[in-house]
Amino acid sequence: MIKACIFDLDGVIVDTARYHFLAWKRLAAELGIPFTEADNERLKGVSRLRSMEILLELGHITMARDEQERLANKKNGWFVEYVERMTPAEIFPGVPALLKDLRQRGQRVGLASSSKNAPRVLALLGLADAFDAMVDGTMIVHTKPDPEIFLLAARKLNVAPHQCVVFEDAEAGVDAALAAGMACVGIGSEEQLHRADLVLPTTGEFDPATLATLDVRQPRPTP
Ligand code: G6P
Ligand code: MG
Repeated sequence: MIKACIFDLDGVIVDTARYHFLAWKRLAAELGIPFTEADNERLKGVSRLRSMEILLELGHITMARDEQERLANKKNGWFVEYVERMTPAEIFPGVPALLKDLRQRGQRVGLASSSKNAPRVLALLGLADAFDAMVDGTMIVHTKPDPEIFLLAARKLNVAPHQCVVFEDAEAGVDAALAAGMACVGIGSEEQLHRADLVLPTTGEFDPATLATLDVRQPRPTP
C-alpha cells in the first residue's frame, strides 16, 4: 500500500526549473558555450557543482575546481535574484489542492530536492507547512540519480521505500526513485521520462484515486 508521496521541487511544484535554465544559460553565454533546453535536461535534478561539470563538458572546457566553484556561485546569485521576485502565483496549478487532498487521504507528504535553495523557495511560496518532511541539497552526499535523497525522505516520513511514490520532472530523478525501490510519476514528456511508472504533463493532473495502481513494487530485501 502506498503510504507516502515524495515531491521534487523545481519543475514539479513550481517552475523554478526555468530559472535554473536561464541562470545556466547566462553563465554559458559568458563562457561562449552553446546551451539549449535539450542540453539543460542533463542538469535537471543534479547538484550545483555536478551541473557546472556537465556545462563544462558540453563546452569541452577544463577548469580548476575553485574556479568551477566561483562560477557555480555566480550562477546561484542570478538564480536567487530570479527566485526572490517569485510569488505564490507561480506554484503550478492544482498543486496546493493536491497536497491537501493527499494528506486528507492519510498520505504522508514529503519534499526531496537537490537544491540548497529549497527552504527559501518553499518559504517564498508559503508552502513550508505543506510537507511532513523535507530533504534538500544540504542534507545529502550523493546527487540524483543516486537514491540517497529519496531513501532519507522515506526515513524521515517513517515509511518503507516500497510504500512511496515519487513525483519527478528530471531523468536523473526518475532513475533515483527507481533505484530507491519506489514507484515514480514522471512530470513532463513521455519520451524523456518513459522509465517512470506513469507520465503526466503536469503535477496538478495527478488523480489521488490512482495511487493504488502505483503500488507495484515489492519490499527490497534487507541487507
Ligand atoms: C534541483 C534542480 C537542479 C539544480 C539543483 C541544485 O535539483 O533540478 O537544476 O541544479 O537542484 O540547486 P541549487 O539551488 O542548490 O543550485
Ligand atoms: Mg526537478
